[in-house]
Amino acid sequence: MENQNKQYIQWFPGHMTKTRRQIQSDIKLIDIVVEIIDARIPVSSSNPDLAELIQNKPKLVLLNKCDKANRNATKQWVDYYSKLEIKAIPVDCKSGKGLNQFVPSVRSILADKFKSKQAKGMKNPILRVMIVGIPNVGKSSFINRIAKQTRAKVEDRPGVTRGNQWYTISKDLEMLDTPGVLWPKFDDMTVGEHLAFTGAIKDNILDIELLAVDFLELMMKHPTQEFLQRFKLTESDIKDKSGYDMLAVVGRKRGMLISGGEIDTERAASLVMDEYRDGKFGNITLEYPGE
Ligand code: G4P
Repeated sequence: MENQNKQYIQWFPGHMTKTRRQIQSDIKLIDIVVEIIDARIPVSSSNPDLAELIQNKPKLVLLNKCDKANRNATKQWVDYYSKLEIKAIPVDCKSGKGLNQFVPSVRSILADKFKSKQAKGMKNPILRVMIVGIPNVGKSSFINRIAKQTRAKVEDRPGVTRGNQWYTISKDLEMLDTPGVLWPKFDDMTVGEHLAFTGAIKDNILDIELLAVDFLELMMKHPTQEFLQRFKLTESDIKDKSGYDMLAVVGRKRGMLISGGEIDTERAASLVMDEYRDGKFGNITLEYPGE
């Protein structure tokens, strides 16, 4: 039953080999990799093969969509990365919150590299950044926020392959214009489920009812006040109910009926998932360090 329920997940088509090759070739041009992950699901939205792909290049992590994550959980993730000696910055690329930390953090991580470029005789060294992340994690939003209009002229610099375009971020920082689109951990059902809950996998390839039933089961284990208030429920109302029972409760409470008085559970399912993703049930982080 457990596995049947999870069959709403159909994975991204496999462009993996091409992407892998592209990242491996781009990596030679850059000084630091910036991995964007979703602060609500830092494990599921990170890439299992990234460490191997980027070899010894330094990495900076952006915990994006922190506006939708539990603040305390995000702090725990920052500490978790810090223990691994990886700098992680909570950001909201939609509003731009937290992004003022980006340039200073890159400069600080690459301070030695910058000095060694100067020691080699470069008067004004440029540090180069590549963005990577799974689909829908916020790569374009980040690039739109941080990139200046002007693009550096590729032809003028030795050692840079023609065809690569660079955005200027600041006088000493440039960013490769094409982000590396990574794949998540395909073989883990929880990963798929969490990606689907947060909307990283588009609903048109999902069975929305099964998804909402699973999500409601999770909510019923850890109900937030916002969730209970939204549907005028008490903790005892949800006790011993199945996810499907809850979906029917939601449908009834919202008057979602079809002919014959039956509850339109498909509409109720869409409503549940939309409201969760809009933060109407509170800021919910689905994954904590050490779990
Ligand atoms: P990608 O390039 O990695 O594929 O992701 P993209 O930037 O296109 O972002 C995917 C969706 O996530 C977009 O929403 C975007 O607005 C939203 N998003 C990105 N960063 C943040 C963030 O920090 N907080 C919040 N709340 N949302 C973020 P969309 O539904 O596709 O479009 P729209 O809602 O902006 O119209």
